[in-house]
Amino acid sequence: MSDRYYLTDGSHVLISGATGAGDEFGGKSVLANWWFAQSVGQGWHDLGLFYNPKGLNYVRGRTVHTLKGLAQSYRAGNRLFDYRPRSDVEAEHEAVIETLEQLPGRKIVVHDEAQSYQGSSKLNRALAQLGNMANASTPTDDIRSLVVTQRPWNLSEELRANMPLKVWVGPYGNEAEHFFNAERMAAAGEQVRANTGAYRWSVTDAGEFVETNPPVPEEFA
Ligand SMILES: Nc1ncnc2c1ncn2[C@@H]1O[C@H](COP(=O)(O)OP(=O)(O)OP(=O)(O)O)[C@@H](O)[C@H]1O
Ligand SMILES: [Mg+2]
Repeated sequence: MSDRYYLTDGSHVLISGATGAGDEFGGKSVLANWWFAQSVGQGWHDLGLFYNPKGLNYVRGRTVHTLKGLAQSYRAGNRLFDYRPRSDVEAEHEAVIETLEQLPGRKIVVHDEAQSYQGSSKLNRALAQLGNMANASTPTDDIRSLVVTQRPWNLSEELRANMPLKVWVGPYGNEAEHFFNAERMAAAGEQVRANTGAYRWSVTDAGEFVETNPPVPEEFA
């Protein structure tokens, strides 16, 4: 039915979900890990970068810590990167996006823990001006964003409005309630509630429920 068109259509994606400890919870960053690796592996995108402030070990790609390391690894032919900022998460985020803007090709970026650098001017720019859309004026502007956060309501309305695809991962609890109400998507929320479960991910597009997917393969976790 949906053919999972949203994996390739280029729209920006907000990934959120239930938080807490325990087996039932989590799966946001793992989903993003699968999505960006898959995008490059399948040739939908030419380059993938996972901005990884938490230093998650399961993230695919070549681990780099600096712009210099990124550039060297890129010249050596790598196209999948696990970027782990060392100190100033917001300033490094800006520098990384700026670097990607200068590289050719179609790019996909995971902004993990986005609430911890939501003031980054480049997060704003990535969502408002970059992407595979009418307003991407040059080929180097083709950067798709996957924004991962456990507190989506803390992101500005403007940022959220630029992510028509909203994904909910995991069980439906108070946070989901809060999320779907804040987005004025109560009807879609009801469908998510009926279909979700541990690590399952539900896709909504422009406020409408699309479908719920099974967990991504465990080898990405
Ligand atoms: N698809 C999956 N299959 C198997 N295990 C999974 C899957 N997704 C998540 N897990 C398990 O849950 C753990 C936490 O997942 P993840 O790191 O994606 O959480 P998160 O939602 O990003 O949480 P946080 O808000 O703390 O960043 C993983 O390390 C793994 O053990
Ligand atoms: Mg995470």
